[in-house]
Amino acid sequence: MRKPILIANWKMNGSLHSNQALLVRMLSKLRPFRKTMDMAICPPFPYLFQVRDLLGYTGIALGAQNTSRASSGAHTGEVSATMLQEMGCRYVLVGHSERRALYHESDRDVAARFRLVCSANMAPVLCVGETLEEREQGQTMAVIERQLRAVIGETGMAGLVGSIIAYEPVWAIGTGRTATPERVSETHRAIRQFLESCQAGVGESIRIVYGGSVKAGNAADLFQSPEVDGGLIGGASLQADEFSAIGAAL
Ligand code: G3P
Repeated sequence: MRKPILIANWKMNGSLHSNQALLVRMLSKLRPFRKTMDMAICPPFPYLFQVRDLLGYTGIALGAQNTSRASSGAHTGEVSATMLQEMGCRYVLVGHSERRALYHESDRDVAARFRLVCSANMAPVLCVGETLEEREQGQTMAVIERQLRAVIGETGMAGLVGSIIAYEPVWAIGTGRTATPERVSETHRAIRQFLESCQAGVGESIRIVYGGSVKAGNAADLFQSPEVDGGLIGGASLQADEFSAIGAAL
C-alpha cells in the first residue's frame, strides 16, 4: 500500500512575512491529515531555515526545489545536496520542467542531481513530463521513458526505490489546464509498467504524484485513480485554504 503524499512547490515566491502568515494558517488546516498522508513544503532556498522552524514537530517535511549537480567546490551560487540535508530537507525536486526548459538542465544533469540527493539520504522527487508538441506527436511515454532511463543509467533501479516520481505534463503547469483524470491514470500506469519491465516490484511500489494546475475544484477527480499517489502543487500551495482543500481531496 503506497502512502499518499502532498508536496507544495512554492517556486520563486514568498517573503519572511508572507511565509509566516501562510504557514500559520495552513498548518492548522493540515493537522487532520498528518496521519493519513505525507506532506512536504518546498520553499525557495533562502527560506529553508524559517520554514523548517515553522514546520517544527508538525510532521510536515521540508523539501528543496533543486540542488547542484556537483557535490562541492568551485560552483558559485550553487547549493549542494549535503547542505540541504544538513538544513533538514527530506525531499528534493529534481528535473522540474522549468529547470529543464529555462535553465537548460539536461537528462544527464537531472540524473547527477538525483544521485547526489540519494547519496545525501534524501528522497528525490523526479519530475517527468511531455510538452504539448510531444503530446500531440504521441511521444508522451517516449519522452518519459527517456527521462527515466537517464536516472536509471546513473543510479540503477536501486536509486528509484524510495524516490517519488512527479508526472507533470509541461502544458498543464501554471496554465489552468490539467490533463484529464483518465489520461493521468493511463500515464501513471504506463510509467509503472515501464519500471516493472526494468525490475519487478519497483513500478508497483514507487509513489507517482501528479502536478499541473491542481486546484481544490479538480483535485478529487485527479486523485480518484489508485494510480495517483498524490500531488505536486504549485500556485495553489501559496493559498492555505486551497492547499488544505486539495489535501482533503487526497
Ligand atoms: O511543481 C508543481 C508545479 O509545476 C505545478 O504548478 O501552478 O500548475 O500547480 P501549478
